[in-house]
Amino acid sequence: KVNGLEFAVRDLGLAEAGRHQIRLAEHEMPGLMATRGEYASSQPLRGARIAGSLHMTVQTAVLIETLVALGAEVRWVSCNIFSTQDEAAAAVVVGADGTPEAPAGVSVFAWKGESLEEYWWCTDQLFQFGGGEGPNMILDDGGDATLLVHKGVEFEAAGVVPQAGEDDPEEYRVILETLRASVAADGKRFTRIAGEVRGVTEETTTGVHRLYELAKTGDLLFPAINVNDSVTKSKFDNKYGCRHSLVDGINRATDVLIGGKVAVVCGYGDVGKGSAESLRGQGARVIVTEIDPICALQAVMDGYQVTTLDDVVEIADIFVTTTGNFDIITAEHMSRMKHQAIVGNIGHFDNEIDMAGLEKTPGVRKQEIKPQVHEYVFADGHSIIVLSEGRLLNLGNATGHPSFVMSNSFTNQTIAQIELFTKPGEYDKQVYVLPKHLDEKVARLHLDALGVKLTKLSKEQAAYIGVDVDGPYKPDHYRY
Ligand code: NAI
Repeated sequence: KVNGLEFAVRDLGLAEAGRHQIRLAEHEMPGLMATRGEYASSQPLRGARIAGSLHMTVQTAVLIETLVALGAEVRWVSCNIFSTQDEAAAAVVVGADGTPEAPAGVSVFAWKGESLEEYWWCTDQLFQFGGGEGPNMILDDGGDATLLVHKGVEFEAAGVVPQAGEDDPEEYRVILETLRASVAADGKRFTRIAGEVRGVTEETTTGVHRLYELAKTGDLLFPAINVNDSVTKSKFDNKYGCRHSLVDGINRATDVLIGGKVAVVCGYGDVGKGSAESLRGQGARVIVTEIDPICALQAVMDGYQVTTLDDVVEIADIFVTTTGNFDIITAEHMSRMKHQAIVGNIGHFDNEIDMAGLEKTPGVRKQEIKPQVHEYVFADGHSIIVLSEGRLLNLGNATGHPSFVMSNSFTNQTIAQIELFTKPGEYDKQVYVLPKHLDEKVARLHLDALGVKLTKLSKEQAAYIGVDVDGPYKPDHYRY
């Protein structure tokens, strides 16, 4: 704690470098900056205590400072152990008007390269606003902050935190340890927090999936807005963001020429579409794997060969998982790959690639090439290169999506926070998406910067196609 501000970041001395990047990013984030301007005087988030768990990058810094500019008090962590940009974290703590000696910004608990214990310690810090208060809003990416509250409430009701089973992943053991300490200290803490939270706004496909599961079983403790399925989020961030940051990650990690190589993209959803395009753009021959006939048909129509991983595992040079599913690339697959094949994941969690199985493969040896780049040498002498230890490589090996696309995602986030915070009681404990006129508004805010001239509907044309002159222009079932 310095100057009354709690935080845990790598080095406040990096703040100036972070501030320069934030300044440049603000110019590239017109939607977010326009939202700041629109709500500057009305301060709709005054009284909001937002617990944010989302990759602590330069772009996220602009989001955090927007929430603060709208009146919120904010605490922040990264939602991945490798995704923090330390200079951005430092700049947010120091604040635009502070100094490293007298920080005057926001409580951030995040640094690049956390251990799992540190990661969950940070996440727990989210829930300790000053004066014994917890948050009254959550902004989540992947659902870990939401998970901690839900598990906390479950174990507080049971009066006991169970032991991890033999087959439970290591991370679950760490979550249980984190909650054991909390429940021992205060057996009603998360129950109180869940009662206070007006809602959560969730950033990504995987976190949204978790929310719908909770809503289905009636276990969701507060209302949720699915930000991911705003069109201006998933059809932009997931696709065009990955089109930019996938090859950025591979290049920074390996500097291997992608042109001419064979690349396999597992999954052809929004992230898979952007990933495949980015590899093809570099001149790779791209092969797609899918389980869904519709996405498989899309991939083949887009000109990619579609086959199974088993069929091509021996001939490809680069493998990327984008499924949000688990056990996509197994240890056995990896043992059959070419010498120095590159293996990486851009889906949310690290279980798409069976890292635990790889580590346990008899005779396998792990060699660090540099942080977040590891060579695994098999007993027969051939090796593969694994990026970011199987965690999302565009944030582990590079700096994630660029500002312009994140401006779309984060404008949706800000609008969703305002919606749930200012309308308590209007939403049930269900999962909602933002109405289409707000989705269209987000897009509109980004047109000028790119020199787009929009055609205006005449009254007669609007009546002919059955829409209002000012939108929404499509029915909810339209798919873009
Ligand atoms: P999506 O649901 O649109 O796409 C996933 C695709 O994988 C689907 O088409 C599905 O049929 C396919 N799939 C599932 N199991 C498969 C299997 N065994 N083999 C082959 N294909 C399989 O989801 P989206 O939006 O593309 O997100 C994918 C993941 O990426 C999620 O975990 C999401 O949270 C994450 N994400 C990561 C980002 C990043 O910056 N790294 C950005 C946005 C999302």
